[in-house]
Order: sequence, then structure tokens, then C-alpha cells
Amino acid sequence: MPVIQTDNLTKHYGSIEALREVSLSVQRGEIFGLLGQNGAGKTTLIKILLGITKLTDGSARLLDRPVGTSAIRSRVGYLPEDHRFPEYHTGASLLDFYGALLDVPRSVRRKRIPETLEMVGLKGRMNYKIGTYSKGMKQRVGLAQAMFHDPDVIFLDEPTDGVDPVGRREIRAIMQHLKSEGKTIFLNSHLLGEVELICDRVAILQRGEVIREGTVAELTLQHNQYLVGIAPEGRFPREDVQKIGFSVAPQGDLWEIGLREGQSIDPVVDLLRSRGLGIRHLIEKRQTLEDLFVETVEAAEPGVDRPAHRARRPLS
Ligand SMILES: Nc1ncnc2c1ncn2[C@@H]1O[C@H](COP(=O)(O)OP(=O)(O)O)[C@@H](O)[C@H]1O
Ligand SMILES: [Mg+2]
Repeated sequence: MPVIQTDNLTKHYGSIEALREVSLSVQRGEIFGLLGQNGAGKTTLIKILLGITKLTDGSARLLDRPVGTSAIRSRVGYLPEDHRFPEYHTGASLLDFYGALLDVPRSVRRKRIPETLEMVGLKGRMNYKIGTYSKGMKQRVGLAQAMFHDPDVIFLDEPTDGVDPVGRREIRAIMQHLKSEGKTIFLNSHLLGEVELICDRVAILQRGEVIREGTVAELTLQHNQYLVGIAPEGRFPREDVQKIGFSVAPQGDLWEIGLREGQSIDPVVDLLRSRGLGIRHLIEKRQTLEDLFVETVEAAEPGVDRPAHRARRPLS
């Protein structure tokens, strides 16, 4: 049974169609990333799954119950986007407060507060007021709040937004740790590089519609393109490789070999070896998620004429 399942989920806010026929499923133990530009509908989807806002059409299930079932509230953790916890709380008193709201017994709270804050690297600051925390520390205390009651599934809405690279790396490590404990993580992000490093599967949301979905490996693989490198003392026989039917283009110190459908890279390897050239590098070429995203979004908006310099800009 999937932990999260939506079927043709549609959401209208008045005349705004925030989600259109979204069908997704997330399995137990996965880190699933929902990607999209601001306004794509990511937060709306999380709010529907959590029962905060109602769907217009289609269906959504969480932990095998229709969304909005309050009985599963204690099995779900949530780090909202742009959250602001009361600054008079300390890290420790915040967890105590939220834990009590979810009926975590006092003795369990006392034990888990230092443990959880240690996991997010805030144990040393647990008795300082949140008002004194940096942005990265606030995100980490938010993560601690989302995982404190030991939920099965954790929703993180833009967890690394506004966090510096070191802080981001720490947040990724916490997510990996949660995954290793069998938790399911649903992550919203417009930071594609991040997502590539952490997610098992992703869906790209564009104006409320899922336009691509799959594992990061599947989505970033460029079929029929290899990168080949030979030992530095050799000269790459470019013309000869072209003669046996492959396209060749330099790519830094490497050579990009293009195959036709059904063609194998093996004849290129045989040719290089027959010339006594040492092969030092041979991989299928991958694009980044950002390349894929820009490509897919442009294909989805064929009428939009983007200047080349804009199309390559990182998303924000
Ligand atoms: N409460 C609301 N009332 C009206 N429109 C909303 C509301 N919440 C979101 N929207 C609209 O729905 C669309 C999706 O928003 P959102 O889910 O916040 O996107 P994202 O999280 O991907 O940035 C946007 O056009 C946004 O303006
Ligand atoms: Mg959002």
C-alpha cells in the first residue's frame, strides 16, 4: 500500500486552478521530491494531503485513509513553508509544547527532547530562545518539531530555503537518517540541485500539472549519449569513430559519442582497443535536473519565447 496516493486530484481556488488531475503515489521509505516554480501548486498539494485545505475533485489518501482523517495526525510530521515559531520558546520548550499537543507522554518528551535536538545539531542551544537562532537553526528546530513525535511520514515544505550550503548539507544528512529509520519523506522544493542529491523519486509540477515523474536516475539519463576518455598519451581517433557511424564532439578532456537508436557503444570500444588506446572513462551521459526542468518547462510552453540567457538561470 502506498503511503501517499492521489488520483486525478484537482484543486480550484475560485477561478484559479492550483492543481489539475494530479496522480501520484509514494511508497514507504521513499524520499519523494515535488519540484516546481513558485506558484506551481506544491504547497497546495501538501495542504490537501494534511487535510488543511479541501480538494475540489479526484481523491487523495494518506496512510491508507482518506485525507482529513484526524486519527492519523500523530503519525504525520509537517514542516510548513515560511514557518515562524514563537520566539519566546526555546528549542526544548517548543518540542515539549508541540509534543504535548500530540499527546506524547511527559516522560517520553523529557527523553526525546535532547535526543531529537542532538540529531539536528541543536542540543547545545536547546535552552536558548528561538529568537536568538539563525535562519538555518530555525529550519533545523522546525525539522526537529516535524520528527519529534516519531511520525511515519514527514512533509517538508521548502526545508532548505534560505539556508546556507553547510546548513543544507546538514539538513540532507538528517533526511537520510530519517529514511534509514524507514520514514517516508515528502519534500517540496524549487531548489533542483538539492533534490537531485537526496530524492529517490521526483515529480515536476508545472502550473498545477505533473509534467514529468520518475527516479532521478531515469529522468536525468540522456539516452544514446556516452562520454569517453582515453589515456592522456593517446590521440582520440575522431574521424575513424565517425566513419563507423557515430557522432563525436569534444567535451572538455572527454569525447561525447552519439549513438543512433539500437546502436551499441561496443564498436567504439573495440576500435579504441584495437589501436592500443587505454580507456580511462566510459559513462552514459546525464543531464542535471535543472537542465531537464528547463527543457521540460519550455516544451510545455511552446509559445513562450525565452532569451537563451534567461533559460539557463537557476530557478528561484
Ligand atoms: N488560499 C489561496 N487562495 C487563492 N489562491 C491560492 C491560495 N493558495 C494558493 N493559491 C494559488 O494557487 C497557486 C499555487 O500556489 P502554491 O500551492 O502556494 O504554489 P507553490 O507552493 O508551488 O509555490 C498559485 O497560483 C497561488 O497563487
Ligand atoms: Mg510553496
